[in-house]
Amino acid sequence: MRLLAPAKINLHLRVGPPRADGFHPLLSWMCTIGLFDTLVLDPSDVAQVSLTCDRPWVPCDQTNLVHRAAALLREHAAAQGRNVGLRVGLEKRIPVGAGLGGGSSDAARMLLGLNQFWGLGLSGDQLAPMAAALGSDVPFFLNGQSALCSGRGEVVQPVAAPKPHWAVLLLPPFGVSTPQAYQRFDQLCPSGCALDRPDIEQWVHLSADSLLDVLVNDLEAAAFSLVPELARLRDSAQGALSRIVRMSGSGSSLFTLFDSDIAAHEAAHIVMSELKIRAVAVRLAPTFEDDLTQRPAPAPVLL
Ligand code: C5P
Repeated sequence: MRLLAPAKINLHLRVGPPRADGFHPLLSWMCTIGLFDTLVLDPSDVAQVSLTCDRPWVPCDQTNLVHRAAALLREHAAAQGRNVGLRVGLEKRIPVGAGLGGGSSDAARMLLGLNQFWGLGLSGDQLAPMAAALGSDVPFFLNGQSALCSGRGEVVQPVAAPKPHWAVLLLPPFGVSTPQAYQRFDQLCPSGCALDRPDIEQWVHLSADSLLDVLVNDLEAAAFSLVPELARLRDSAQGALSRIVRMSGSGSSLFTLFDSDIAAHEAAHIVMSELKIRAVAVRLAPTFEDDLTQRPAPAPVLL
């Protein structure tokens, strides 16, 4: 079974003061983008899960969310009296530590894919708490392309995709640690920011320029204070492109929006040639096909 796992950007991200459990209440408009990891699932006659990745710096042990998602579903298979094995190959294309949710998307796609691959028959309501246990962004990826997320991220309300179809991603050669960004946010803004629900029903109809005018990311000041180079890059990008550039999640990726693919590809070219930073034009809320939607599950391996 071949699975595609899309990245996301946080179009809008408001952050409140930390809760008793240390997590921060959020209000975020998240949207998938056309940048994908690939997961290839093969049955194994050894009753365990083994993970390999084409990027040597990606850990393939139990700390990888793909492993942890598979472990949760193996427990369900075991409860049904089945001792299943699996080989997973991960082709990593979504940068790590970039605020693009790659690991979370891989984990969500594993939950959905393995549920079918092993014929477990778990409902969306049964998968949702597993996704939330794996990470704050994982539930979003169970639920489609564009959503307003609240709670610590796990309360997902699907909304229409934004009117602009294109984003340009700027991918600096360094990451930002998410826990450190939240810690710095607490220092800079101890009482948090307002979590007013945006007028999303109106926002989904705005063109790229008008939408960029209203979007906010409350973690930008914290990430820029941790990594001043990122603040300089954002300023240079806004100058070179003459448009607003925002950060996704806790960084380090930056993005801006376009109504047309030609304008997006031109902007990506300008960033790469003038700023010498990797940039890519990607579709917002892309439709895609993989084996989860394409064909029935193979028969589960019973050991
Ligand atoms: O849930 P996840 O593992 O993705 O969170 C990573 C870290 O980001 C948490 O350990 C926490 O420091 C921070 N975080 C937070 N509030 C959120 C989401 C994440 O403080 N709503």
